[in-house]
Amino acid sequence: MILILITIIPSGKMLSDTKLLLLQQLVHNASKEEIIWTEGYLAGFLDAQQPIAIQPASKGTSLKPVVIYGTETGNSKKVASRILTTFKKNKINAKTVDVFQYDIDKLQKETLALFVMSTQGEGEFPQNAVAFYEKLKVSDADLSTLKFAVLALGDSSYPLYCNAGILLDETLERLGAQRILPLLTADVDYADVVASWEIQLQQFFENDGAAAINTNNAAIQPTPIKKNYKGVISHKVILNDRGSSKETWHIEITTADEVAYEPGDALGVFAKNDSVSIQKVINYFSEDPKRIVKIKDREAPIGEWLAERNIKGLSKRLLEQVSDLLGIATLEEKADLLDILEQNQIPENIGIHSLLELLLPIAPRLYSVSSSTEAHDGQVHLTVSVNRFIVGDQIKTGLASQFLADYPVNTELEFYIHKNTNFKLPSEDTDIIMIGPGTGIAPFRSFLSHRDATGAEGKNWLFFGEQHFVLDFYYQTEIQEWIATGVLNRFDPAFSRDQQHKIYVQDRIRENAKEFNRWLERGATLYVCGQKHPMSTDVENTIIEIIASEQNTSIEKAKVFLETLETSGRYQKDVY
Ligand SMILES: Cc1cc2nc3c(=O)[nH]c(=O)nc-3n(C[C@H](O)[C@H](O)[C@H](O)COP(=O)(O)OP(=O)(O)OC[C@H]3O[C@@H](n4cnc5c(N)ncnc54)[C@H](O)[C@@H]3O)c2cc1C
Ligand SMILES: Cc1cc2nc3c(=O)[nH]c(=O)nc-3n(C[C@H](O)[C@H](O)[C@H](O)COP(=O)(O)O)c2cc1C
Repeated sequence: MILILITIIPSGKMLSDTKLLLLQQLVHNASKEEIIWTEGYLAGFLDAQQPIAIQPASKGTSLKPVVIYGTETGNSKKVASRILTTFKKNKINAKTVDVFQYDIDKLQKETLALFVMSTQGEGEFPQNAVAFYEKLKVSDADLSTLKFAVLALGDSSYPLYCNAGILLDETLERLGAQRILPLLTADVDYADVVASWEIQLQQFFENDGAAAINTNNAAIQPTPIKKNYKGVISHKVILNDRGSSKETWHIEITTADEVAYEPGDALGVFAKNDSVSIQKVINYFSEDPKRIVKIKDREAPIGEWLAERNIKGLSKRLLEQVSDLLGIATLEEKADLLDILEQNQIPENIGIHSLLELLLPIAPRLYSVSSSTEAHDGQVHLTVSVNRFIVGDQIKTGLASQFLADYPVNTELEFYIHKNTNFKLPSEDTDIIMIGPGTGIAPFRSFLSHRDATGAEGKNWLFFGEQHFVLDFYYQTEIQEWIATGVLNRFDPAFSRDQQHKIYVQDRIRENAKEFNRWLERGATLYVCGQKHPMSTDVENTIIEIIASEQNTSIEKAKVFLETLETSGRYQKDVY
């Protein structure tokens, strides 16, 4: 089947050149067994795309599923809505609820709870699910009448893949709940796993609520292998002028291989610890960085372990483990390993090996791609702001942003592409409104470069904000050119500190309320990128106010209007 596909596709033009290239690369590098496996996978995938009919068997079932989602960036919510729609179509009385709004006391009264749970941070629960899990974890409720299933969303590039879903699944089992389906883990391209979950639910309902599959153990799928690219940072420049309080880098990565990305995607960076921090930990233990240490199945010099393990901003879970090991009081806030070592009395029998065993690999960090393959051949661009924060009397910087800022030019860098299907350009004749203060401008530089290079006809409106016009106007020359050539139809900058009172992007949106609403009513797609708090919430509240006043309606109805835009893909957010 695969071989036939290869000969048919080029003449049939069924796939774009990029997709065809990817398929050819995959097949040419695959063994015979892998090709046979792929054939089965594709057939299964096609089956999974068929519309699902979830129906209770003839006798019907008294189960009323509640689909509870825990989400940071909205994927789990989308999946929960999809499951709900399918249930409704099949006349099954179901509802969805944000886990933040859900009290665990209700679980004992439910018949079937279906959880869609993403993982955030370093294997942590998303913000809206933290309180729920903390309570569930210490609960001694008897959940033996509850049936449940967990779909865990995650990203296999992270060391603790789908960890929150796994922990939730285990905790529910411990409290006596009956698992109706094995835990399913879904990577960033989760669509086919969701479809397969729906099929399993279908079987469950057809079976009148009896578990169809062996559910004794949670079946965690093998971690998929992702494509990593290699490139070099060929050019980097600070976008701020001297005197700015920001340090934001424009970084160009040049690759020999074509990198498959689209505007809206992000690039995943595997940062390493800096040599000064590594040396300080080594000095603390009077160790030899070259001494080989074995952890699990791998042997490597101590220096290498310390470069790759996370020793900065340790998470709450890690702090608990480290405190236990060192016999010190548990720290509540994030902390660096070195500070812990220096500020506490560490027992002499604790060696570096036992600490290294606890530490996790450094989690990758994502950066929005700010280039377009149409405009920047063979390159991927990023816009990276060095993260600065104060701990006690020290000014610290973020691990990955500082790593990129320090990264030597023309040195090899490994990375991967994080596809973001929820942040994509609409059809080329659709108007777009882009709100991107700070590094939020990154994907919009990609959008505009792409629309410029492809001659897209839709109109473009950009809101950008930073502190000072003369110090922080990122990509000023390009923006001015886009205005001059008519690519950018409207540009509204908000430089917050150039006058007595602060002016932010939401103020510019408010000043242009009529026109903003007109664009929305005429079908424009709305994008927000950048800081989640407080920017994206302030912007969203302003947009709701504007819709209410311009459409002469209530705030509640304006919220529903914006939600409808969001569900139909006309309001897309990429906030962090
Ligand atoms: C989809 C997506 C796209 C993104 N795009 C961009 C982009 O285009 N440009 C960009 O600049 N960023 C972007 N980001 C953010 C980026 O991924 C990183 O989160 C950001 O650079 C900070 O990472 P870091 O490793 O530098 O900081 P980290 O080391 O991860 O620190 C982050 C925070 O943790 C806390 N912390 C860390 N250590 C300690 C400690 N010892 N004590 C107390 N608190 C501590 C601080 O609050 C600090 O600000 C994006 C994020 C996502 C999810
Ligand atoms: C900052 C950040 C940290 C993440 N950490 C993990 C992780 O530790 N393990 C994992 O499997 N996935 C991790 N992910 C991936 C998310 O779980 C994945 O993108 C998921 O689809 C998000 O779903 P949501 O939009 O419902 O939150 C992380 C994503 C981000 C942006």
